[in-house]
Amino acid sequence: MARQQIIEPRSGQYNFKTDYSNGDTITWESIERHFSWHVTGKVNMAYECVNRHVVDGFGSKTALHYVEGDVEWKLSYKDLKIETDRWAQVLKNHGVKKGDFLFVFLPKHPDCYIAILAAIKLGAIVGPLFEAFMEEAVRDRISDCEGKFLITNKEFMTRVPREDLPSLEKIFLTDDSINGISIQDELSSVVVKQDILEWVDLEDGLNIHYTSGSTGKPKGIIHAHRAMIHQYITGRWVLDLKEDDVYWCTAHPGWVTGSVYGIFAPLLNRATLVLHGGRFNAHSWYETLEKTGVTVWYSAPTAFRMLMAEGNDILENYDLHNLRHILSVGEPLNPEVIYWGLEHLNLRIHDTWWMTETGAQLIVNLPTTTIKPGSMGKPLPNIEAVVLDDDGKQLPSGEVGHLAIKAPWPGIMKEVWKNPEKFASYFPFGPEWYVAGDLALIDEDGYVFFQGRSDDMINSSGERIGPFEVESKLMEHPAVAEVAVIGKPDPLRGEIVKAFLVLNKGYQEDVNLIEEIRLFVRNRLAAHAAPREIEILSELPKTKISGKILRRELKAREKELVGRK
Ligand code: PRX
Repeated sequence: MARQQIIEPRSGQYNFKTDYSNGDTITWESIERHFSWHVTGKVNMAYECVNRHVVDGFGSKTALHYVEGDVEWKLSYKDLKIETDRWAQVLKNHGVKKGDFLFVFLPKHPDCYIAILAAIKLGAIVGPLFEAFMEEAVRDRISDCEGKFLITNKEFMTRVPREDLPSLEKIFLTDDSINGISIQDELSSVVVKQDILEWVDLEDGLNIHYTSGSTGKPKGIIHAHRAMIHQYITGRWVLDLKEDDVYWCTAHPGWVTGSVYGIFAPLLNRATLVLHGGRFNAHSWYETLEKTGVTVWYSAPTAFRMLMAEGNDILENYDLHNLRHILSVGEPLNPEVIYWGLEHLNLRIHDTWWMTETGAQLIVNLPTTTIKPGSMGKPLPNIEAVVLDDDGKQLPSGEVGHLAIKAPWPGIMKEVWKNPEKFASYFPFGPEWYVAGDLALIDEDGYVFFQGRSDDMINSSGERIGPFEVESKLMEHPAVAEVAVIGKPDPLRGEIVKAFLVLNKGYQEDVNLIEEIRLFVRNRLAAHAAPREIEILSELPKTKISGKILRRELKAREKELVGRK
């Protein structure tokens, strides 16, 4: 198939087109009219996601469609309201209240979604934890904001270092009562009070997602209930969710995509959500698309590349005719993937750009606009994006600089927990411009092209990994004297974590030791953060004056090696 420079949209009844059809300018203020609080003054994200659809007469519509192997069941919006009310009452009976930090550490199972929404009903600030986190990652997050409550299960509990978490007042278990409170036992006798849902302010805390940067431990990004304005409209315009849609976001709620576009945006738009447990597997993914009749699918470039790598023959075994809209996020979407989508799925793949800190999509490919493969798209209506030089001066089109967004917008983070300096660091040139840390250029048509990070943050399979976190863990291993961790370019995963080590005296390089060191990170921090490659060096490159390790130099060397292959 010819490699087109531009891919035109298909004609269709897209929400964006419908909303703009009468020629009005749509502002953030006019979008607020959608919400019940615009009339009642009573705010709660969970109310808008669940209760209002029941009030509006859509209680029998399927909210969650869960598939895991042979197990499959559905929950209507009415069921979801009842369940989240019951869970909220159990939590409330145990003291959970507005403003408390409550963590949810569960697999991609309806319990995880119910737990999150129930806690939000009480006004608690929810910290969803990625299912593959190991002890250290769990400890860092819960201890940083002194989390008071945790909802988890028996299996995941083995990765919760209880004794290191004195702030944790209560632990709820979804499938057990040993070492915690059994949710099931409590649910069997709970009596839900009428006023179980807590009203909050738009500016009150909604959730906390920990993100990695190039330095230090992960930082807690807190979002406010007002983010729903931005999340709702991107669900409507970018995901193009309509009444009949069956929608699947493949991310776990522990990542921001999994909570914003895996829970809030689709529920605000009253979609039917597909939940599929486990990690990537081509057959079960295609099967899920077919079996549940997914119409709108939001995933990531690494997942698409993994599907491509499985070969296109297996696609013939599946009937994916329901699929009508595909989107991607988290890492650069290379044109090859878009061409694969066109050729084998007969659909465009729409890239979207945003960050944990931004709370929702900012640069997008709307279903109604032309796609330029290689570009992340254009700013969402009401969003202004520019490229700045090192002094904060706006650069002309075509020049590479710091991608910046005019602040504020409704989805933007509320704060970085107990770290105002970090918050301020996103605004190095004053409050007008939020500086993302990404390098980009904007072409003469306004399309934004990603050019890399301006810092050392690693993006592997769309998962954000801080080199410092991995280096700190590696330094705890007795064989390691010095360490530098970088993202090495990788055709499948975008980047892989690569560690350069200098060994302590008395240790020799050998495969068993290297594997032991890799597992040391994997079993204590998280599987996705474990180095896929480890190279032993006799010394690391450092700056002459301060002796700081030059990750940049190691990365440049790797890029050159990859380029030569
Ligand atoms: O570098 C950009 C990359 O992912 C970073 C944000 O990571 P995180 O907070 O984990 O959020 C990921 C999903 C919202 C960005 O600074 N990134 C995100 N989307 C894209 C991207 N890089 C290239 N193209 C994208 N579409």
